Amino acid sequence: MHALIVVAHPDPDSFTHRVAAELARGIAEAPGGHTAEIADLAAEGFDPRYNNADRAGYGAGSAPPPDVLLEQQRIDRCQALVLVYPVYWWSFPALLKGWIDRVFSNGWAYRESPGQKLVKLLGRLPVHLVAIGGADAGTYDRHGYLPAMKTQIEHGIFDYCGAPIAGSRFLLDSHARARGALLEAAHDLGRGLFIQQSCGSGSAHGGPERQVACSQRAGKSLHAL
Ligand SMILES: Cc1cc2nc3c(=O)[nH]c(=O)nc-3n(C[C@H](O)[C@H](O)[C@H](O)COP(=O)(O)O)c2cc1C
Repeated sequence: MHALIVVAHPDPDSFTHRVAAELARGIAEAPGGHTAEIADLAAEGFDPRYNNADRAGYGAGSAPPPDVLLEQQRIDRCQALVLVYPVYWWSFPALLKGWIDRVFSNGWAYRESPGQKLVKLLGRLPVHLVAIGGADAGTYDRHGYLPAMKTQIEHGIFDYCGAPIAGSRFLLDSHARARGALLEAAHDLGRGLFIQQSCGSGSAHGGPERQVACSQRAGKSLHAL
């Protein structure tokens, strides 16, 4: 299986990029011959600004702009979408938010038209989220940032399109904590990514016992690290 790892950080030497590289290495080293490709949105010069060509295509059934089409095509080629990003203001960085705004378009990610019921089009696309935050877990707990981000990102974006959230991780306190341990955790996540995905989560995929068994096989795979 093939994973597309989308990274939104301007510095290729940043911790965020090192996390993405470790994930890719873990995926490639896992049994099963899996592959991973890194989409470095900053280096590729993706323009996150929603523009009039995007607007013209919105719901009109016309083809999206060429840069958006290329992004949709590379997502269509993968069996897992992994988003690796620094938390900026308790959310996605603007580059990644703009990528979602433009690429997850009406007609490709979902279908919506006046008087019609919403059709979710991305049921085939498991999504893994890896957020790197400078603040510590206590800060996230005290202010309710984890549920807020979960509602906004997991429910508001991916559930809307029907894309299942196969994993959601927060690597917190990223400046103060030993980064080696976080990188090791990222590597483990990569190794377990497709195992966890094939196990699924929750009762729709075999119930809690199966989930626990799968999590053990996948290594450190549940929630905040
Ligand atoms: C503009 C900006 C906003 C940030 N907002 C948050 C935030 O809301 N919560 C948080 O935990 N960290 C925040 N941080 C810290 C980053 O998440 C952290 O520095 C980054 O993930 C570390 O990875 P890096 O070394 O790859 O940049 C922010 C950093 C910047 C530059």
